[in-house]
Amino acid sequence: MSKEKLNILFAAAEVVPFAKTGGLADVSGALPKAIKELGHDIIVVMPRYYKIDKSKLTKLPSPLGVPMGDMGELWAGVYTTTLPNSEVPIYFIDHEEYFGRHGLYEDEKGGFKDNDKRFIFFSKAALQLCKMLNFAPDVIHANDWHTAAMPLLSKTMFYEDFLNAKSVLTIHNLQHQGNFDKGLMNVMEVGWEHFNSYEFESYNRVNLLKGAIAHADAITTVSKKYAQEIQTAEFGFGLEKHIRSHSHKLFGILNGVDYDEWSPAVDEYLVKKYDVRKFSGKKACKKDVQTHFHLEARDDIAIIGFVGRFAEQKGIGLIAGVLEGVLDLDVQVVMLGTGEKWAEDFFSEIAYRRPNFALHIGYSDALAHKIEAGSDMFLMPSIFEPCGLNQIYSLSYGTLPIVRAAGGLDDTIVNFNELEKKGNGFKFYDATNEALYHTVFWAIETYYHNPKAFVSMQKSAMKEHFGWDEAAKEYIDVYNSLIN
Ligand code: ADP
Ligand code: GLC
Repeated sequence: MSKEKLNILFAAAEVVPFAKTGGLADVSGALPKAIKELGHDIIVVMPRYYKIDKSKLTKLPSPLGVPMGDMGELWAGVYTTTLPNSEVPIYFIDHEEYFGRHGLYEDEKGGFKDNDKRFIFFSKAALQLCKMLNFAPDVIHANDWHTAAMPLLSKTMFYEDFLNAKSVLTIHNLQHQGNFDKGLMNVMEVGWEHFNSYEFESYNRVNLLKGAIAHADAITTVSKKYAQEIQTAEFGFGLEKHIRSHSHKLFGILNGVDYDEWSPAVDEYLVKKYDVRKFSGKKACKKDVQTHFHLEARDDIAIIGFVGRFAEQKGIGLIAGVLEGVLDLDVQVVMLGTGEKWAEDFFSEIAYRRPNFALHIGYSDALAHKIEAGSDMFLMPSIFEPCGLNQIYSLSYGTLPIVRAAGGLDDTIVNFNELEKKGNGFKFYDATNEALYHTVFWAIETYYHNPKAFVSMQKSAMKEHFGWDEAAKEYIDVYNSLIN
Protein backbone atom coordinates (compact mmCIF):
# COMPACT_ATOMS: atom_id res chain seq x y z
CA MET A 1 0.00 0.00 0.00
CA SER A 2 1.38 3.38 -0.86
CA LYS A 3 0.94 6.49 1.23
CA GLU A 4 -1.07 9.11 -0.60
CA LYS A 5 0.75 12.13 0.61
CA LEU A 6 4.39 11.87 1.56
CA ASN A 7 6.42 14.46 3.43
CA ILE A 8 9.86 14.77 1.88
CA LEU A 9 12.94 16.67 2.96
CA PHE A 10 15.19 17.26 -0.07
CA ALA A 11 18.68 18.56 0.76
CA ALA A 12 21.23 19.63 -1.82
CA ALA A 13 24.33 21.79 -2.01
CA GLU A 14 23.14 23.59 -5.14
CA VAL A 15 19.74 24.40 -6.56
CA VAL A 16 18.75 26.28 -9.73
CA PRO A 17 18.21 29.26 -9.95
CA PHE A 18 20.00 30.15 -6.69
CA ALA A 19 23.42 28.51 -7.07
CA LYS A 20 24.80 26.17 -9.70
CA THR A 21 28.07 24.59 -10.74
CA GLY A 22 26.59 21.63 -12.61
CA GLY A 23 23.69 19.27 -13.15
CA LEU A 24 23.01 18.68 -9.45
CA ALA A 25 21.53 22.18 -9.38
CA ASP A 26 19.29 21.53 -12.41
CA VAL A 27 17.97 18.36 -10.80
CA SER A 28 17.42 19.96 -7.39
CA GLY A 29 15.51 22.85 -8.93
CA ALA A 30 13.24 20.65 -11.03
CA LEU A 31 12.63 17.27 -9.38
CA PRO A 32 11.04 18.70 -6.19
CA LYS A 33 8.55 20.64 -8.32
CA ALA A 34 7.57 17.49 -10.20
CA ILE A 35 7.18 15.62 -6.89
CA LYS A 36 4.99 18.41 -5.54
CA GLU A 37 2.84 18.24 -8.66
CA LEU A 38 2.16 14.60 -7.87
CA GLY A 39 0.51 15.79 -4.65
CA HIS A 40 3.28 15.34 -2.08
CA ASP A 41 4.68 17.79 0.43
CA ILE A 42 8.31 18.50 -0.24
CA ILE A 43 10.68 21.09 1.18
CA VAL A 44 14.10 21.87 -0.24
CA VAL A 45 17.08 22.97 1.84
CA MET A 46 20.35 24.46 0.61
CA PRO A 47 23.12 26.69 2.02
CA ARG A 48 22.76 30.48 1.75
CA TYR A 49 25.91 31.24 -0.20
CA TYR A 50 27.21 34.77 -0.28
CA LYS A 51 25.87 35.46 -3.76
CA ILE A 52 22.29 34.56 -2.85
CA ASP A 53 20.64 37.90 -2.19
CA LYS A 54 19.04 37.86 1.30
CA SER A 55 16.91 40.89 0.55
CA LYS A 56 14.72 38.83 -1.77
CA LEU A 57 14.12 36.18 0.90
CA THR A 58 12.05 36.03 4.08
CA LYS A 59 13.93 35.52 7.32
CA LEU A 60 12.53 33.07 9.86
CA PRO A 61 12.19 34.68 13.29
CA SER A 62 14.32 32.29 15.32
CA PRO A 63 17.79 30.97 14.49
CA LEU A 64 18.76 27.32 14.55
CA GLY A 65 21.23 25.87 17.02
CA VAL A 66 23.39 23.27 15.31
CA PRO A 67 25.38 20.88 17.52
CA MET A 68 28.85 20.36 16.04
CA GLY A 69 30.36 17.79 18.39
CA ASP A 70 33.66 18.82 19.87
CA MET A 71 33.24 22.27 18.28
CA GLY A 72 30.18 23.00 20.41
CA GLU A 73 26.96 24.53 19.14
CA LEU A 74 26.96 26.90 16.14
CA TRP A 75 24.07 29.10 15.04
CA ALA A 76 22.39 29.36 11.67
CA GLY A 77 19.95 31.90 10.33
CA VAL A 78 17.21 30.55 8.08
CA TYR A 79 15.74 32.30 5.04
CA THR A 80 12.99 31.09 2.80
CA THR A 81 11.13 31.58 -0.46
CA THR A 82 9.59 29.21 -3.02
CA LEU A 83 11.12 27.60 -6.07
CA PRO A 84 10.14 29.72 -9.12
CA ASN A 85 6.71 28.98 -10.60
CA SER A 86 5.85 26.57 -7.82
CA GLU A 87 4.66 26.24 -4.28
CA VAL A 88 7.71 24.27 -3.17
CA PRO A 89 9.27 25.99 -0.15
CA ILE A 90 13.03 26.31 -0.20
CA TYR A 91 14.99 27.11 2.96
CA PHE A 92 18.48 28.58 3.04
CA ILE A 93 20.87 27.82 5.88
CA ASP A 94 22.85 30.96 6.62
CA HIS A 95 26.15 30.93 8.49
CA GLU A 96 28.56 33.65 7.57
CA GLU A 97 31.71 31.80 8.58
CA TYR A 98 30.95 28.79 6.38
CA PHE A 99 28.94 30.09 3.46
CA GLY A 100 29.67 33.82 3.29
CA ARG A 101 32.32 33.47 0.60
CA HIS A 102 32.58 33.50 -3.16
CA GLY A 103 32.48 30.02 -4.63
CA LEU A 104 30.44 27.05 -3.50
CA TYR A 105 33.23 24.59 -2.81
CA GLU A 106 36.38 26.40 -3.82
CA ASP A 107 37.92 29.67 -4.88
CA GLU A 108 40.91 30.53 -7.02
CA LYS A 109 43.19 29.10 -4.31
CA GLY A 110 41.54 25.68 -4.54
CA GLY A 111 39.01 23.62 -2.54
CA PHE A 112 38.02 25.11 0.83
CA LYS A 113 39.88 23.42 3.67
CA ASP A 114 36.78 23.27 5.85
CA ASN A 115 34.42 21.70 3.31
CA ASP A 116 33.98 18.77 5.69
CA LYS A 117 32.70 20.96 8.54
CA ARG A 118 30.70 23.21 6.22
CA PHE A 119 28.63 20.34 4.90
CA ILE A 120 28.26 18.44 8.18
CA PHE A 121 26.97 21.71 9.57
CA PHE A 122 24.57 22.04 6.65
CA SER A 123 23.38 18.42 6.96
CA LYS A 124 22.66 18.78 10.66
CA ALA A 125 21.02 22.16 10.17
CA ALA A 126 18.66 20.66 7.56
CA LEU A 127 17.54 18.06 10.10
CA GLN A 128 17.22 20.64 12.88
CA LEU A 129 15.15 22.76 10.54
CA CYS A 130 12.55 20.00 10.18
CA LYS A 131 12.18 19.98 13.96
CA MET A 132 11.80 23.74 14.07
CA LEU A 133 9.16 23.67 11.31
CA ASN A 134 7.37 20.70 12.85
CA PHE A 135 7.82 19.01 9.50
CA ALA A 136 7.97 15.25 10.00
CA PRO A 137 9.48 13.77 6.86
CA ASP A 138 8.59 10.30 5.68
CA VAL A 139 11.63 10.51 3.46
CA ILE A 140 14.94 12.31 3.85
CA HIS A 141 16.44 12.67 0.38
CA ALA A 142 20.17 13.42 0.37
CA ASN A 143 22.25 14.19 -2.72
CA ASP A 144 25.94 13.45 -3.25
CA TRP A 145 28.62 13.58 -0.56
CA HIS A 146 27.65 17.02 0.75
CA THR A 147 24.56 15.66 2.46
CA ALA A 148 25.69 12.06 2.76
CA ALA A 149 25.88 12.20 6.57
CA MET A 150 22.11 12.68 6.78
CA PRO A 151 21.00 9.04 6.51
CA LEU A 152 23.02 7.92 9.54
CA LEU A 153 22.49 11.18 11.45
CA SER A 154 18.76 10.60 11.19
CA LYS A 155 19.20 7.14 12.68
CA THR A 156 21.60 8.04 15.49
CA MET A 157 21.92 11.55 16.84
CA PHE A 158 18.48 12.57 15.55
CA TYR A 159 16.91 9.15 16.05
CA GLU A 160 14.05 10.27 18.28
CA ASP A 161 13.03 13.05 15.94
CA PHE A 162 12.94 10.94 12.80
CA LEU A 163 11.59 7.63 14.04
CA ASN A 164 9.45 7.08 10.97
CA ALA A 165 11.74 8.62 8.38
CA LYS A 166 13.42 6.60 5.65
CA SER A 167 16.46 7.90 3.83
CA VAL A 168 17.40 8.00 0.16
CA LEU A 169 20.79 8.92 -1.22
CA THR A 170 21.09 9.98 -4.84
CA ILE A 171 24.56 9.60 -6.31
CA HIS A 172 25.01 12.19 -9.04
CA ASN A 173 28.72 11.63 -9.33
CA LEU A 174 30.69 8.86 -7.65
CA GLN A 175 34.02 10.53 -8.30
CA HIS A 176 33.44 13.00 -5.48
CA GLN A 177 33.06 11.03 -2.27
CA GLY A 178 33.76 13.45 0.55
CA ASN A 179 37.07 12.06 1.80
CA PHE A 180 38.29 13.75 4.98
CA ASP A 181 40.46 13.39 8.05
CA LYS A 182 38.94 10.93 10.50
CA GLY A 183 38.68 13.65 13.17
CA LEU A 184 35.44 14.54 11.36
CA MET A 185 33.82 11.64 13.24
CA ASN A 186 33.93 13.84 16.36
CA VAL A 187 32.05 16.61 14.58
CA MET A 188 29.56 14.24 12.97
CA GLU A 189 28.68 12.56 16.27
CA VAL A 190 27.30 9.37 14.79
CA GLY A 191 29.58 7.26 17.01
CA TRP A 192 33.07 5.90 16.36
CA GLU A 193 31.63 2.40 16.09
CA HIS A 194 30.66 3.41 12.55
CA PHE A 195 34.27 4.07 11.63
CA ASN A 196 35.04 0.72 10.04
CA SER A 197 35.64 -0.54 6.52
CA TYR A 198 31.98 -1.47 6.02
CA GLU A 199 30.77 2.01 6.83
CA PHE A 200 32.66 5.32 6.91
CA GLU A 201 36.30 4.24 7.00
CA SER A 202 38.45 4.24 3.89
CA TYR A 203 42.26 4.17 4.16
CA ASN A 204 41.97 5.43 7.74
CA ARG A 205 40.00 8.48 6.63
CA VAL A 206 36.30 9.30 6.63
CA ASN A 207 34.50 8.65 3.34
CA LEU A 208 31.05 10.24 3.61
CA LEU A 209 29.58 8.70 0.47
CA LYS A 210 30.72 5.24 1.52
CA GLY A 211 28.96 5.63 4.86
CA ALA A 212 25.78 6.80 3.19
CA ILE A 213 25.80 3.87 0.78
CA ALA A 214 25.84 1.61 3.82
CA HIS A 215 23.14 3.49 5.74
CA ALA A 216 20.65 4.96 3.27
CA ASP A 217 17.51 2.87 2.98
CA ALA A 218 17.72 3.26 -0.79
CA ILE A 219 20.37 4.50 -3.15
CA THR A 220 19.52 5.94 -6.51
CA THR A 221 21.67 7.11 -9.34
CA VAL A 222 20.77 9.22 -12.31
CA SER A 223 20.59 6.67 -15.13
CA LYS A 224 20.06 2.94 -15.40
CA LYS A 225 23.36 2.35 -17.12
CA TYR A 226 25.32 4.24 -14.46
CA ALA A 227 23.64 2.10 -11.78
CA GLN A 228 25.27 -0.88 -13.48
CA GLU A 229 28.57 0.82 -14.22
CA ILE A 230 29.29 1.91 -10.64
CA GLN A 231 29.41 -1.74 -9.67
CA THR A 232 32.46 -2.25 -11.89
CA ALA A 233 36.12 -1.38 -11.36
CA GLU A 234 36.13 0.92 -14.40
CA PHE A 235 33.50 3.29 -12.99
CA GLY A 236 33.36 2.44 -9.28
CA PHE A 237 36.16 4.76 -8.07
CA GLY A 238 37.17 2.11 -5.53
CA LEU A 239 33.65 1.71 -4.13
CA GLU A 240 32.44 -0.91 -6.63
CA LYS A 241 32.63 -3.80 -4.16
CA HIS A 242 30.93 -1.80 -1.45
CA ILE A 243 28.17 -0.80 -3.88
CA ARG A 244 27.75 -4.37 -5.09
CA SER A 245 27.15 -5.46 -1.52
CA HIS A 246 24.29 -2.92 -1.32
CA SER A 247 22.97 -3.41 -4.85
CA HIS A 248 19.65 -4.79 -3.58
CA LYS A 249 18.67 -1.21 -2.70
CA LEU A 250 20.18 0.52 -5.74
CA PHE A 251 17.94 2.03 -8.45
CA GLY A 252 18.70 3.92 -11.66
CA ILE A 253 16.31 6.78 -12.48
CA LEU A 254 17.08 8.92 -15.49
CA ASN A 255 17.01 12.69 -14.98
CA GLY A 256 14.45 14.75 -16.83
CA VAL A 257 14.47 18.14 -18.50
CA ASP A 258 12.83 21.30 -17.24
CA TYR A 259 11.29 22.32 -20.57
CA ASP A 260 10.33 25.73 -19.16
CA GLU A 261 14.06 26.42 -19.17
CA TRP A 262 15.44 24.29 -21.97
CA SER A 263 13.17 24.55 -24.96
CA PRO A 264 13.86 26.69 -28.05
CA ALA A 265 10.16 27.58 -28.20
CA VAL A 266 10.31 29.54 -24.92
CA ASP A 267 14.02 30.24 -24.39
CA GLU A 268 14.44 33.94 -23.54
CA TYR A 269 18.18 33.84 -24.25
CA LEU A 270 17.67 33.19 -27.99
CA VAL A 271 17.56 35.93 -30.64
CA LYS A 272 14.78 33.97 -32.26
CA LYS A 273 12.63 31.25 -30.72
CA TYR A 274 11.85 28.22 -32.84
CA ASP A 275 10.21 24.82 -32.77
CA VAL A 276 9.84 21.83 -35.10
CA ARG A 277 7.35 23.63 -37.32
CA LYS A 278 9.20 26.95 -37.37
CA PHE A 279 12.63 25.38 -37.57
CA SER A 280 14.17 28.20 -39.58
CA GLY A 281 14.62 30.20 -36.35
CA LYS A 282 17.57 27.94 -35.65
CA LYS A 283 19.44 29.69 -38.46
CA ALA A 284 19.12 33.03 -36.67
CA CYS A 285 20.49 31.40 -33.51
CA LYS A 286 23.41 30.00 -35.49
CA LYS A 287 24.21 33.43 -36.86
CA ASP A 288 23.96 34.87 -33.36
CA VAL A 289 26.60 32.42 -32.12
CA GLN A 290 28.86 33.26 -35.07
CA THR A 291 28.47 36.97 -34.41
CA HIS A 292 29.03 36.65 -30.68
CA PHE A 293 32.13 34.53 -31.11
CA HIS A 294 33.52 36.43 -34.14
CA LEU A 295 33.29 33.41 -36.40
CA GLU A 296 32.76 33.72 -40.13
CA ALA A 297 29.03 34.25 -40.74
CA ARG A 298 28.15 31.28 -42.96
CA ASP A 299 24.86 29.53 -42.56
CA ASP A 300 25.97 26.48 -44.54
CA ILE A 301 28.90 25.53 -42.30
CA ALA A 302 28.57 22.87 -39.58
CA ILE A 303 28.95 24.16 -36.02
CA ILE A 304 29.87 21.85 -33.17
CA GLY A 305 29.24 23.14 -29.63
CA PHE A 306 30.57 22.12 -26.24
CA VAL A 307 29.35 23.35 -22.85
CA GLY A 308 30.72 21.82 -19.70
CA ARG A 309 33.25 21.62 -16.95
CA PHE A 310 36.82 21.27 -18.16
CA ALA A 311 37.34 18.06 -16.22
CA GLU A 312 38.75 14.68 -17.27
CA GLN A 313 35.24 13.26 -16.77
CA LYS A 314 33.97 15.29 -19.71
CA GLY A 315 36.52 13.86 -22.14
CA ILE A 316 38.48 17.10 -22.48
CA GLY A 317 41.63 15.03 -22.91
CA LEU A 318 40.07 13.41 -25.97
CA ILE A 319 38.87 16.74 -27.32
CA ALA A 320 42.37 18.16 -26.88
CA GLY A 321 43.73 15.17 -28.80
CA VAL A 322 41.53 15.64 -31.89
CA LEU A 323 40.68 19.33 -31.98
CA GLU A 324 43.34 20.47 -34.45
CA GLY A 325 42.47 17.63 -36.83
CA VAL A 326 38.77 18.45 -36.62
CA LEU A 327 39.48 22.13 -37.27
CA ASP A 328 41.15 21.15 -40.55
CA LEU A 329 37.67 20.11 -41.75
CA ASP A 330 35.04 22.56 -42.95
CA VAL A 331 33.58 23.17 -39.50
CA GLN A 332 33.38 25.71 -36.70
CA VAL A 333 33.83 24.61 -33.08
CA VAL A 334 32.60 26.63 -30.10
CA MET A 335 33.47 25.76 -26.51
CA LEU A 336 32.15 27.21 -23.24
CA GLY A 337 33.60 26.00 -19.99
CA THR A 338 35.96 26.42 -17.14
CA GLY A 339 38.02 24.08 -15.02
CA GLU A 340 41.41 22.45 -15.26
CA LYS A 341 44.06 25.03 -15.97
CA TRP A 342 45.97 22.96 -18.52
CA ALA A 343 42.82 22.69 -20.60
CA GLU A 344 42.01 26.39 -20.35
CA ASP A 345 45.55 27.21 -21.52
CA PHE A 346 45.57 24.55 -24.22
CA PHE A 347 42.26 25.59 -25.77
CA SER A 348 43.07 29.32 -25.43
CA GLU A 349 46.23 28.87 -27.44
CA ILE A 350 44.31 27.09 -30.22
CA ALA A 351 41.58 29.76 -30.17
CA TYR A 352 44.27 32.38 -30.71
CA ARG A 353 45.57 30.62 -33.82
CA ARG A 354 42.55 29.05 -35.50
CA PRO A 355 39.81 31.26 -36.96
CA ASN A 356 37.21 28.49 -36.95
CA PHE A 357 37.55 27.82 -33.23
CA ALA A 358 35.96 30.01 -30.55
CA LEU A 359 36.27 29.69 -26.80
CA HIS A 360 34.70 31.34 -23.78
CA ILE A 361 36.35 30.45 -20.51
CA GLY A 362 33.92 31.02 -17.69
CA TYR A 363 30.39 30.30 -16.65
CA SER A 364 27.48 31.85 -18.55
CA ASP A 365 23.88 30.67 -18.60
CA ALA A 366 23.13 32.89 -21.57
CA LEU A 367 25.95 31.47 -23.69
CA ALA A 368 25.07 27.90 -22.69
CA HIS A 369 21.57 28.41 -24.09
CA LYS A 370 22.80 30.21 -27.20
CA ILE A 371 25.30 27.43 -27.99
CA GLU A 372 22.67 24.72 -27.51
CA ALA A 373 20.45 26.49 -30.03
CA GLY A 374 23.02 27.78 -32.51
CA SER A 375 25.03 24.58 -32.97
CA ASP A 376 24.25 21.75 -35.36
CA MET A 377 25.99 19.16 -33.20
CA PHE A 378 26.87 18.98 -29.52
CA LEU A 379 30.07 17.34 -28.36
CA MET A 380 30.04 15.25 -25.18
CA PRO A 381 32.73 12.56 -25.32
CA SER A 382 32.66 11.85 -21.58
CA ILE A 383 34.90 9.25 -19.99
CA PHE A 384 32.07 8.64 -17.54
CA GLU A 385 28.70 10.38 -17.31
CA PRO A 386 26.20 9.51 -14.57
CA CYS A 387 23.37 11.08 -16.57
CA GLY A 388 24.45 14.15 -18.46
CA LEU A 389 21.92 16.84 -19.10
CA ASN A 390 23.41 18.78 -21.96
CA GLN A 391 22.95 15.99 -24.48
CA ILE A 392 19.26 15.80 -23.53
CA TYR A 393 18.91 19.59 -23.74
CA SER A 394 20.58 19.39 -27.17
CA LEU A 395 17.88 17.03 -28.42
CA SER A 396 15.25 19.57 -27.51
CA TYR A 397 17.10 22.21 -29.59
CA GLY A 398 17.54 19.89 -32.59
CA THR A 399 21.28 19.85 -32.00
CA LEU A 400 22.55 16.33 -32.54
CA PRO A 401 24.81 14.98 -29.78
CA ILE A 402 28.15 13.31 -30.49
CA VAL A 403 28.73 11.17 -27.41
CA ARG A 404 30.67 8.32 -25.93
CA ALA A 405 28.46 5.42 -24.88
CA ALA A 406 28.87 5.95 -21.14
CA GLY A 407 26.18 6.10 -18.43
CA GLY A 408 23.27 8.38 -19.22
CA LEU A 409 24.77 9.26 -22.61
CA ASP A 410 24.31 5.67 -23.66
CA ASP A 411 20.79 5.53 -22.21
CA THR A 412 19.59 8.64 -24.04
CA ILE A 413 21.42 8.69 -27.37
CA VAL A 414 20.55 6.23 -30.13
CA ASN A 415 23.21 5.91 -32.79
CA PHE A 416 22.42 7.12 -36.30
CA ASN A 417 21.45 4.21 -38.52
CA GLU A 418 20.77 5.31 -42.05
CA LEU A 419 19.28 2.05 -43.25
CA GLU A 420 16.79 1.71 -40.44
CA LYS A 421 16.22 5.49 -40.39
CA LYS A 422 16.86 5.55 -36.67
CA GLY A 423 18.91 7.57 -34.26
CA ASN A 424 19.20 10.89 -32.50
CA GLY A 425 22.97 11.32 -32.48
CA PHE A 426 26.40 9.86 -33.12
CA LYS A 427 27.95 7.50 -30.61
CA PHE A 428 31.32 5.86 -30.09
CA TYR A 429 32.55 3.33 -27.58
CA ASP A 430 36.32 3.38 -27.02
CA ALA A 431 37.76 6.34 -25.17
CA THR A 432 40.38 6.94 -27.85
CA ASN A 433 41.24 9.91 -30.04
CA GLU A 434 40.68 7.76 -33.15
CA ALA A 435 37.16 6.76 -32.14
CA LEU A 436 36.24 10.34 -31.32
CA TYR A 437 37.77 11.74 -34.50
CA HIS A 438 36.01 9.20 -36.72
CA THR A 439 32.68 9.88 -35.08
CA VAL A 440 33.01 13.65 -35.44
CA PHE A 441 34.05 13.10 -39.06
CA TRP A 442 31.02 10.87 -39.62
CA ALA A 443 28.68 13.47 -38.09
CA ILE A 444 30.12 16.23 -40.28
CA GLU A 445 29.91 13.98 -43.36
CA THR A 446 26.27 13.30 -42.60
CA TYR A 447 25.61 17.01 -42.17
CA TYR A 448 27.04 17.84 -45.61
CA HIS A 449 26.31 14.76 -47.68
CA ASN A 450 23.10 13.41 -46.20
CA PRO A 451 21.25 16.56 -45.16
CA LYS A 452 17.87 14.92 -45.52
CA ALA A 453 18.69 12.31 -42.90
CA PHE A 454 20.40 14.91 -40.72
CA VAL A 455 17.43 17.28 -40.68
CA SER A 456 14.97 14.47 -40.17
CA MET A 457 16.99 13.31 -37.14
CA GLN A 458 17.05 16.86 -35.80
CA LYS A 459 13.31 17.14 -36.05
CA SER A 460 12.55 13.81 -34.46
CA ALA A 461 15.05 14.59 -31.68
CA MET A 462 13.07 17.74 -30.94
CA LYS A 463 9.92 15.72 -30.49
CA GLU A 464 11.46 13.45 -27.86
CA HIS A 465 10.37 14.05 -24.31
CA PHE A 466 12.39 13.43 -21.15
CA GLY A 467 9.91 14.75 -18.61
CA TRP A 468 10.49 15.13 -14.90
CA ASP A 469 6.96 13.85 -14.33
CA GLU A 470 8.00 10.31 -15.25
CA ALA A 471 11.17 10.46 -13.16
CA ALA A 472 9.25 11.88 -10.19
CA LYS A 473 6.87 8.91 -10.30
CA GLU A 474 9.82 6.55 -10.18
CA TYR A 475 11.21 8.35 -7.12
CA ILE A 476 7.82 8.13 -5.42
CA ASP A 477 7.78 4.38 -6.11
CA VAL A 478 11.18 4.07 -4.45
CA TYR A 479 10.02 6.14 -1.46
CA ASN A 480 6.86 4.07 -1.12
CA SER A 481 8.75 0.79 -1.35
CA LEU A 482 10.63 1.85 1.81
CA ILE A 483 7.59 2.96 3.72
CA ASN A 484 5.83 -0.32 3.18
P1 ADP B 1 27.75 17.92 -14.72
O1 ADP B 1 26.73 18.04 -13.65
O2 ADP B 1 28.58 16.70 -14.60
O3 ADP B 1 28.59 19.15 -14.84
P2 ADP B 1 25.49 17.87 -16.58
O4 ADP B 1 25.45 17.67 -18.04
O5 ADP B 1 24.58 17.04 -15.77
O6 ADP B 1 27.00 17.73 -16.12
O7 ADP B 1 25.07 19.35 -16.22
C1 ADP B 1 25.85 20.45 -16.47
C2 ADP B 1 24.99 21.68 -16.34
O8 ADP B 1 25.82 22.81 -16.09
C3 ADP B 1 24.20 22.00 -17.58
O9 ADP B 1 23.02 22.68 -17.24
C4 ADP B 1 25.17 22.93 -18.33
O10 ADP B 1 24.52 23.76 -19.24
C5 ADP B 1 25.76 23.70 -17.19
N1 ADP B 1 27.11 24.22 -17.44
C6 ADP B 1 28.28 23.55 -17.36
N2 ADP B 1 29.32 24.37 -17.61
C7 ADP B 1 28.79 25.58 -17.85
C8 ADP B 1 29.34 26.86 -18.18
N3 ADP B 1 30.63 27.03 -18.31
N4 ADP B 1 28.48 27.89 -18.35
C9 ADP B 1 27.14 27.71 -18.22
N5 ADP B 1 26.57 26.54 -17.92
C10 ADP B 1 27.37 25.49 -17.73
C1 GLC C 1 26.50 14.99 -12.01
C2 GLC C 1 26.87 14.17 -13.22
C3 GLC C 1 25.98 14.38 -14.40
C4 GLC C 1 24.52 14.42 -13.98
C5 GLC C 1 24.32 15.46 -12.89
C6 GLC C 1 22.89 15.57 -12.41
O1 GLC C 1 27.13 16.18 -11.89
O2 GLC C 1 28.22 14.37 -13.58
O3 GLC C 1 26.17 13.34 -15.32
O4 GLC C 1 23.70 14.73 -15.08
O5 GLC C 1 25.10 15.14 -11.79
O6 GLC C 1 22.40 14.36 -11.90
